[in-house]
Order: sequence, then C-alpha cells, then structure tokens
Amino acid sequence: MARIAVIPGDGIGPEVCAVAVRVLDALKDFEPGASWEIESFPWGSQYYLAHGSMLPPDGLDTLDDFDAILFGAVGSREVPDHVTLWGLRLAIVQGFDHAVSLRPAALLPGVRGPLAGRGPRDIDLVVVRENTEGEYSGIGGFSRRGHPGEVAIQTTIYSRTGIERTARYAFALAASRPDRRLASITKSNASRHASVLWDEVVAEVAADHPEVSWESVLVDAAAARLVLAPQSFDVIVASNLHGDVLSDLTGALAGSLGMAPSANLSLDGAHPSMFEPVHGSAFDLIGRDLANPVGMVLSVAMMLDDLGLAASAVAVRDAVTDTCARGILTPDAGGTASTTEMADAIVAYLDAARPAAHD
Ligand code: IPM
Ligand code: MG
Repeated sequence: MARIAVIPGDGIGPEVCAVAVRVLDALKDFEPGASWEIESFPWGSQYYLAHGSMLPPDGLDTLDDFDAILFGAVGSREVPDHVTLWGLRLAIVQGFDHAVSLRPAALLPGVRGPLAGRGPRDIDLVVVRENTEGEYSGIGGFSRRGHPGEVAIQTTIYSRTGIERTARYAFALAASRPDRRLASITKSNASRHASVLWDEVVAEVAADHPEVSWESVLVDAAAARLVLAPQSFDVIVASNLHGDVLSDLTGALAGSLGMAPSANLSLDGAHPSMFEPVHGSAFDLIGRDLANPVGMVLSVAMMLDDLGLAASAVAVRDAVTDTCARGILTPDAGGTASTTEMADAIVAYLDAARPAAHD
C-alpha cells in the first residue's frame, strides 16, 4: 500500500489538490497494487502566520516516510515570496535532492494553443530541468544593507555531478521517445564558466547515446525557436533558471500554464519524489471554481508512473485527453467549464473505464 502525502499549500493549491484526491479515490483497485493511504498536511503561508515557519522542524522527516508527495502551490499575499518558496517548496526539493524537474508539454486535441496553425502534432516535448543548483543554490548575500550603495551578490554554482545526472536522465528519456532528439540549452557565449562546464559534460554524456541526435542551443535562440518552430523540439535539457523560464513558455504553448504538470524526482529513490502543477498560487482564481485542474491531474499520472502503476497512469491521461477533446475546459484553456465540471468529467471517465472487479 503506497503512502501519499498531500500538501495543498496556498492559493488555488487546495482546490486542485481536492481534484487530485477525487481522481485517486476513483482509481482505487484499478489495477493490482493500486491502493494507497493519503495524508494531508496543512503547511504553507497560513501555517507560517500561526507558527513562524512554513512547515514544522521535523517536516522533512515526516515526509520521508511517504512514497510520494503531491504538492499544490505556494505563495500568498501576506508572506514574501522568498520566504514561502524557500521555506516550503525549495526546502523539500533541496532537502530531498530532487535532482531533476520533469516538465512535459503537449498540446491536447480540443485545446486551442496560442500559436496560429499549430496542432497537437507540433507541440509534444519535455523539459528536463536541473533542479538543485545553478541560480537556485541559495549562495550570496548583502553588503552595506540599507545604505544607498548597498550591494547584493547571487552566486550560480554548477557541479559536474549535478550536470551529469541531469544529462544522463535527459538522454535516457530522449532515447525512449520515438523522435530521439535532444536540445541542450545554455548561454555559453556569455556565461563562460558554468555554461561551458555544462556543454562539456553534456557532450561527454552524449557520447554514450549515439542513438540520440542532439544539439546545443543558446537559450535566447531557443525561446524564439519554440515559438517559430515548436515541432523542432523533443527533449530539452536545461539549467535550473533556463528550465524554469522555458517551461513556462512550453506550458503556454500547450494551451495554458494550468495544463502543465511536473515531477521533482529523487533519481536514486532515496526520498519520495514530489509531483506538482507548474502554475502556482494564481491569486485571481482563488475560491472561484475556475482553476484548471489538468496540471495537477497530469501530475498525479506522473506520480502513478513513478509508483509503478502504469495502467492507472494511462487511464488518467486518457481521462484528461477525452475531457479536453469534448471541449470541457476551464476559461484559461479557452472553455467555459468550472473546476468541478472538469473534475466530474475526468472522474466519470475513470468510473466508466474501471476494469470489472476480479474475484
Ligand atoms: C516553478 C516556479 C518556482 C521555481 C518558483 C515558485 C520558485 O516558478 O516551479 O517553476 O522557479 O522553481
Ligand atoms: Mg517557474
């Protein structure tokens, strides 16, 4: 029996996590081994306002006993972003060494993407984002704080280990996809240390994967090419910040950031991986039953794959595809449905798809 921790967090996180739990309830006993117990944790900005920290001191120890974590969103108007993000989401990602953030983006039939003349065949890619280093290493400081000449320093670090494990994951993923193409994103013309090491290590890893055709693309050129020729990308591997920026772009290309799922992976399995939609708190949508649940529900599918429940994961993806194809979409993706109506359609599909019980 899998143990799943749910951290709804802030903003629309609780609304989309409620849909995730409905989906999981509908999948119980869907296939042998599809059983779990779910525990929810009230950590986030409200917890911070009451306790002075985003999660309790033993929070990571508590989570470590679980097989997977579902995360909603973090960020509120009452607490500064760098406090909420570092206090909760990045504390988990860094504490559990979630080496890679996997961010697929596919334009589903029925969803109207922002690019004229582009359809589902043009946008089907995955961003593999380095997830623990780079600009997110947390190294830096202030000098002469509060004076007119105050200075801030933010240091980017890249390690051979961090680059290599990300690249290995990305090449193996590319090798498993039909197109077997990979683009490594850097800014080696300007970032003449970190990006240069990145390029060297990626080239070494590429030598172990002759079956994958790969290229190195500068991040600014990649941004333009994603808009002009999105079909030219399959797997994208990028540094933490570049991956962050490009995955918002790819999410938008797939119709809405609200559709974008992600997985923060513990590659060695030492800790539970964490699955979350890319969208964040979305203050303008809170409490309006308008949040797009697809990013969260597709994150559940990624979790089910990680737990070895492939048939359940396929059923969830099919349920989402069918719902979108029928035009049942929230306004961010061009429809008029509510969160509840989308969730009802997804759950109804799963109920109908459930295999007859074995005796
Ligand atoms: C994301 C988000 C986060 C990130 C923020 C909220 C810190 O933008 O998951 O892409 O940059 O990692
Ligand atoms: Mg982001």
